[in-house]
Amino acid sequence: MGATGIRGTFFDFIDDPWKHLGREQDAARFHADGLLVVEDGIITDFGAYDAVAPRHAGLEITAIEGRIILPGFIDGHIHFPQTRVLGAYGEQLLPWLQKWIFPEELKYKDRNYARDGAKRFFDLLLASGTTTCQAFTSSSPVSTEEFFEEATRRNMRVIAGLTGIDRNAPDDFIDTPDNFYRDSKALIARYHNSGRNLYAVTPRFAYGASPELLQRCEQLKQEHPDCWVNTHISENPAECRGVLEQHPGAEDYLGVYEKYGLVGPKFSGGHGVWLSDGEFRRMSASGAAVVFCPCSNLFLGSGLFRIGRATDPAHRVRMSFGTDMGGGNRFSMLNVLDDAYKVGMCNNTLLDGSVDPSRQDAAEAERNKMSPYRGFWSITLGGAEGLYLDDRLGNFNPGKEADFVALDWNAGPMAQPWHQSLVVGDGGPKTVEEAADLLFAVMMVSDERAVDETWIMGKRLYKKS
Ligand code: GUN
Ligand code: ZN
Repeated sequence: MGATGIRGTFFDFIDDPWKHLGREQDAARFHADGLLVVEDGIITDFGAYDAVAPRHAGLEITAIEGRIILPGFIDGHIHFPQTRVLGAYGEQLLPWLQKWIFPEELKYKDRNYARDGAKRFFDLLLASGTTTCQAFTSSSPVSTEEFFEEATRRNMRVIAGLTGIDRNAPDDFIDTPDNFYRDSKALIARYHNSGRNLYAVTPRFAYGASPELLQRCEQLKQEHPDCWVNTHISENPAECRGVLEQHPGAEDYLGVYEKYGLVGPKFSGGHGVWLSDGEFRRMSASGAAVVFCPCSNLFLGSGLFRIGRATDPAHRVRMSFGTDMGGGNRFSMLNVLDDAYKVGMCNNTLLDGSVDPSRQDAAEAERNKMSPYRGFWSITLGGAEGLYLDDRLGNFNPGKEADFVALDWNAGPMAQPWHQSLVVGDGGPKTVEEAADLLFAVMMVSDERAVDETWIMGKRLYKKS
């Protein structure tokens, strides 16, 4: 296939904005009139139109006008079999799982149900501008197969794995460690590195895992060191207490996963609301990542994730952001940024000295503020770094995969166009600062209605009708 070009207004990142205090725009890259050149789904050239176009005489170009084009959004933590049951009323984590989640996920043993659920799931991702996700499936291999099959049909870069649980769930939902090991092996052989699929060894959480199940996970990771590891960590106080009761001798929640050799590069622990300073430091030192899931942490009442602590430059923890749908009540990473901003502001109040002067930490208070630079970096290049996918995804550097989203900054609630006209009139953004101001309103005032087009490997898979 020959090269094709996409011309429009581009916004992406070349660095982590938290490293550019007071000059966050230096981490971003903006072309009011840019050109992206794609061949076989891979970016081969990128830059200002006037600089790039002369290098590609005769290039067939698609113009996307009146939009800001960003790298596709990366959801670092989502539950595919919870698509139908998002937003379930009235419980914190542990009773919520029993009442709403396990009964729904059980249905994914049925191949037809799982296939229909997978189709709906990926339609919803694309309509939200999410081009990559790291997903939990259920304890049934059928659900994992149907997830990868649908991702393959869409040619999307995904990470997922059979989701192991052998305690604290109904008898017909739990699995044995031996079956989990056998089925995981077969799924790794069939799907890992097949097309754009990647496999994560996925113990659901330490609260639902016996030592034997975690030993099997350790064995899988040793036998397949190239695989990812995905799980939950320190989400809810009752869960945290239960983990220490069930795994006596563990120093803390992270210590359970450390004991089985799971913590290191390519490890993701979702939530981390109740991680201690020491656990953050150990995650930082090992190269493990935490996934910030603010919609879910608020919806289930789990608590306020300490963004400013995770981003401590002395002990920086890799971080991706996730919806955690259905614990999160939204599919859209734009809603995640909305809630991330509000969590950050609550933390800011707790640390600025106004509540308790003895707990004042001005630097950490500031790091909690979710600027549009920090926010959009976190769901693109930062999310890719958290998942160790930044060699393939996250910005428009040549060599990366051409997954991107075109945002209509005026779309959303009726309030949006007039609000945005404070920043730009009829024309589009001319500077990186104007673009960032428009994007802040996209994350705070709009939602997935701002997603106009979603492209996968240089092909448009979603267009808002
Ligand atoms: N911990 C174990 N399973 C789950 C789940 O499905 N959702 C959330 N939010 N936390 C979990
Ligand atoms: Zn989760």
